Amino acid sequence: MRNLQEKLGQLEAQGRRRSLKLPQGIDLTSNDYLGLAEHPKLREAAIDFLQNSSSVGAGGSRLLRGHTSAHQALEEFAATFFAAPRTLYFSSGFQANAAVFQALPSRHDTIIFDEFVHASAREAIQNSHARRIKVQHNNVQGFENALKEAQASERQNVWIAVESIYSMDGDAAPLPALFDLAEKYDAILIIDEAHGSGVCGPTGRGLSEELVYEHGYKRIVTLHTCGKAIGVAGGLLCGSEDVIDTLINTARAFIYSTAPMPLQAYLVQKSLELIGSAEGQAAREKLQKIVAQAHEFFGGSGTHIVPIVIGDDFECVDVANNLQAHGYDIRAIRPPTVPEGTARLRLSLSAALDEDILPAFADHYEDARKKDAA
Ligand SMILES: Cc1ncc(COP(=O)(O)O)c(C=O)c1O
Repeated sequence: MRNLQEKLGQLEAQGRRRSLKLPQGIDLTSNDYLGLAEHPKLREAAIDFLQNSSSVGAGGSRLLRGHTSAHQALEEFAATFFAAPRTLYFSSGFQANAAVFQALPSRHDTIIFDEFVHASAREAIQNSHARRIKVQHNNVQGFENALKEAQASERQNVWIAVESIYSMDGDAAPLPALFDLAEKYDAILIIDEAHGSGVCGPTGRGLSEELVYEHGYKRIVTLHTCGKAIGVAGGLLCGSEDVIDTLINTARAFIYSTAPMPLQAYLVQKSLELIGSAEGQAAREKLQKIVAQAHEFFGGSGTHIVPIVIGDDFECVDVANNLQAHGYDIRAIRPPTVPEGTARLRLSLSAALDEDILPAFADHYEDARKKDAA
């Protein structure tokens, strides 16, 4: 165990040792972008469901006895909601990413991925037997060069992995340009909508909403994680019949894992209903107002994720601690989650915030920086 102590000591010395903290203060950290995680309708739905259902746990994997009417109903509902031929529900987005990159690309394929894709996709890509090409963040020319390289090596399928809204910078992927490239080079675009679902697109179906309406899922696979704006937990994969059938038959993260609780599936469906309703639209409009305020104070890409880059790890922790002491729940994000020298506060906005919070937070932030510099 001495090596564990050494490792922890190293993290401590670098200002990177993490610990668990209970939520406290105004939420500027969670990914509950629409405030649905605490929505009374979802709480009521949970009570209702449990009162009328026979089991809490699924009791087995989906291919055994764990497949319930709640899972089936959610997947059918989600297929209509996301205009997809079929969908498949996983316990988490992490598991869904593991499944996609293990089951879809073969050893004869190539995966071209953005350097900033989430750790869950990164790890799954790293574990894949396919050839892998990393591309500079959002560099369309870089993607085209990689596609040419893959074409020249006569690999079979080529998969492009991106996020719609990047989790640590809040910027958007150039989806239409990437889709055009996918068409030109006969590739398949895998879009992780973790931070786009519920929030982006004309009706909250994600940044890819218009793309999939126009082109369908022949060349597109989307992942909608359900623990962020959707406010519950899990991951919904949307794709063609063949994609979903392949996952059911060969994705180890799906086959060898107990199904999510039926309650969880039911609540995701209820949440999607809310997201698609006038109430969901009103929440998105309110969020846009908060986003505009934050943009004025802190810049960023004009989305609900605003990086406040501080740079030094220790300084970032000091500023976060100071703000937490003033009642804001904001956390220091440090390497390896973000690149070296870019430790940051990740300001995560929500429709549940009052509109007077950001001006007050901006003042406190300025004070915290001054104190830290003194
Ligand atoms: C871009 C992205 N993909 C996937 C995941 C994993 O999703 P989950 O939290 O449901 O496991 C996350 C979670 O942080 C994420 O940010």
